Amino acid sequence: MTQAFAKVTAIRGMNDALPGASVRWELLEDNVRAWMRAYGYRNMRTPILEHTRLFTRGIGEVTDIVEKEMYSFTDALNGESLTMRPEFTAGMVRATIEHNLIYDRPQRVYAMGPVFRHERPQRGRYRQFHQIDVEALGLAGPDIDAEMIIMVARLWSLLGIKDVQLELNSLGQSEERAAHRAALILHLEAHKAVLDEDGLRRMYTNPLRVLDTKNPAMQAMADAAPKLFDYLGEQSRAHFDGVCARLQDAGIVYRINPRMVRGLDYYNLTVFEWVTDKLGAQATVCGGGRYDGLIELVGGKPAPAVGFAIGMERLLDLWGQYQPETPQTECDVYFVHQGESAQRRAATLAESLRDAGISTIVHAGAGSFKAQFKRADTSGAVIAVILGDDELAAGAASVKMLRSQSTSEPAGQQQVSLDNLVAFLKEKVK
Ligand code: HAM
Repeated sequence: MTQAFAKVTAIRGMNDALPGASVRWELLEDNVRAWMRAYGYRNMRTPILEHTRLFTRGIGEVTDIVEKEMYSFTDALNGESLTMRPEFTAGMVRATIEHNLIYDRPQRVYAMGPVFRHERPQRGRYRQFHQIDVEALGLAGPDIDAEMIIMVARLWSLLGIKDVQLELNSLGQSEERAAHRAALILHLEAHKAVLDEDGLRRMYTNPLRVLDTKNPAMQAMADAAPKLFDYLGEQSRAHFDGVCARLQDAGIVYRINPRMVRGLDYYNLTVFEWVTDKLGAQATVCGGGRYDGLIELVGGKPAPAVGFAIGMERLLDLWGQYQPETPQTECDVYFVHQGESAQRRAATLAESLRDAGISTIVHAGAGSFKAQFKRADTSGAVIAVILGDDELAAGAASVKMLRSQSTSEPAGQQQVSLDNLVAFLKEKVK
């Protein structure tokens, strides 16, 4: 007797996109490709697996991602330490260095695909999720930072999304951060009594993150902490002002959030997030900024860069609130047939329809006309084409409009000669 096999389910926090939902994913991906083309960004595909040290070095040892969220393992076949990418940027940078891309000329690139973080799953927070990631490598000015943000604003308007707010900050340069950090540590030391366990642990390793706390007992301490903004030098301020001026040119409203710290260590100067109150606790749809030190940090010649990533699940959730309807049609034309010769004829006719750009399903197997029509109807097809003995004898097919396209369209059935069928249907489905 065979042993019962325990049902296998998907891994927690990793979701299936079934055909009904996938329609919207594809629609989004189509929109993203067109949107990227409009700004001259080209697609780049990097592996999901990278050497662990790329991320520990690139993202930073003392970040939530590296400390506790990476799917890392030792490859049993050769002992290498590997990690499933928790983000795109490090891998994109690795690839551009490895293939000498940015020394040639600046690169505007993007990617879409799955990334992995071992977080506690909830709405908008998953362990496998998807990002649209956009990077401009080899460009230093505030013009490109502004372009990044303006580009995202265009995506919102293309998709009809409102109610997303832009938050902006500058993290300055490393010397400025070092001076601020020293002042901040003094502040934290003076308020040690209110720090929680995380705060105490991070006080010397990542004091900025201590301010990012949600602990109400620490809010007053965080509010009174020295602001990085006050430690910015002239150049950093000028860069930030340059970004702001261009956002104003574009009519983009922003809020300066001096407390914004991103969860990755590689940023300098401009950082930004787009947030919304329409997604519950996971409010950030898009995050990014400038990372001029990363390329050198992971082994390249120094070069500036800026980028952002959008969480696709969050974006789809948000988009769905503005556009709840998605077309669910499987095909334009559904072939209904009776008898083997009709089925075979339908199969060859269907190929001619596909040649003409008409998407077509031929009912598979046999079945009563009634059952086949039911399938035709649920397929969402506009037209059913019927082939039976009578039709074949007459060298014709019966064509039935399943959904009246206009009020003048008769909903009935009509015979069309097989010679004319493709041209006739093309006219009807266009
Ligand atoms: P990030 O802020 O870590 O940035 O992630 C970007 C976006 O991914 C977030 O704003 C959010 O929409 C989405 N996201 C993050 N974690 C999850 C999760 N567990 N489930 C669902 N969605 C999530 C980066 O990853 C940087 N690499 C962005 C960047 C590109 N900076 C410069 N270039």
